[in-house]
Amino acid sequence: MQSPLSLQVRAPDATATRTHARLSVRLREETRLEHKSVEAACGLPGAVRHLSDYSSCLLDFYGIFSPIERHIATFTECSYLGLSMQKRARVPYLQQDLRLLNVDPDSWREAPAQALPALPQFAFALGALYVLEGSTLGGQIIMSALQAQLRIPVDIPGGFFAGRGEQTGPLWNEFRDALDVYGQQYPEASADVIVGAKRTFDAIGNWFNENNNRFSS
Ligand code: HEM
Repeated sequence: MQSPLSLQVRAPDATATRTHARLSVRLREETRLEHKSVEAACGLPGAVRHLSDYSSCLLDFYGIFSPIERHIATFTECSYLGLSMQKRARVPYLQQDLRLLNVDPDSWREAPAQALPALPQFAFALGALYVLEGSTLGGQIIMSALQAQLRIPVDIPGGFFAGRGEQTGPLWNEFRDALDVYGQQYPEASADVIVGAKRTFDAIGNWFNENNNRFSS
């Protein structure tokens, strides 16, 4: 693990800045296929027809986001990039929605260790954080489709899919800026960030595919 101090003092590599695309741009371009696969695997909004499907879907997100988020938070470098994991955590929203839906906490299952992405260093964890952060972007579209599709006379607890409300854009831009600073300072670590993101997308997609039979037929 790089020392926090080296993260603060190292000067940007000017050559790399000129000759390489920004890390945030590379991530978007190089994980496009993985995003498509995850979209297909989570089956949203089509697979969710009843309120029980919605709970199952949130349980699936909880099961894989929870251990990944905890793992990312062990890397102190997040705060040196100005990223507060407390502020960015998605799992509290999942927990809140599940509680409001009265889902028995005994059924809140976490993915086993072998199903999790390998994130041995901070660079890989930053790629995983990119995936979790990005999941705030599509949520509002998903939520309005779900509201229309479920046609039930109750408000669905939608804290998770609401993303960050009006703060979604600003917080995403702040995260992308932090990614690009990291990419400038550690161009040699960019490939690991992208691998971390791909591993995370794959782990999430596999987890959803494994749990697909939870949805009603
Ligand atoms: C059916 C489900 C999904 C839909 C419809 C969807 C939709 C979207 C949309 C519309 C954007 C672009 C937003 C923008 O450019 O302003 C986006 C970005 C993104 N989504 Fe999803 N998404 C889905 C599922 C997920 C999941 C489950 C994850 C991760 C766990 C994820 C991760 C990301 C990431 C990382 C980005 C950022 C791409 C970039 O770098 O610009 N998405 N999504």
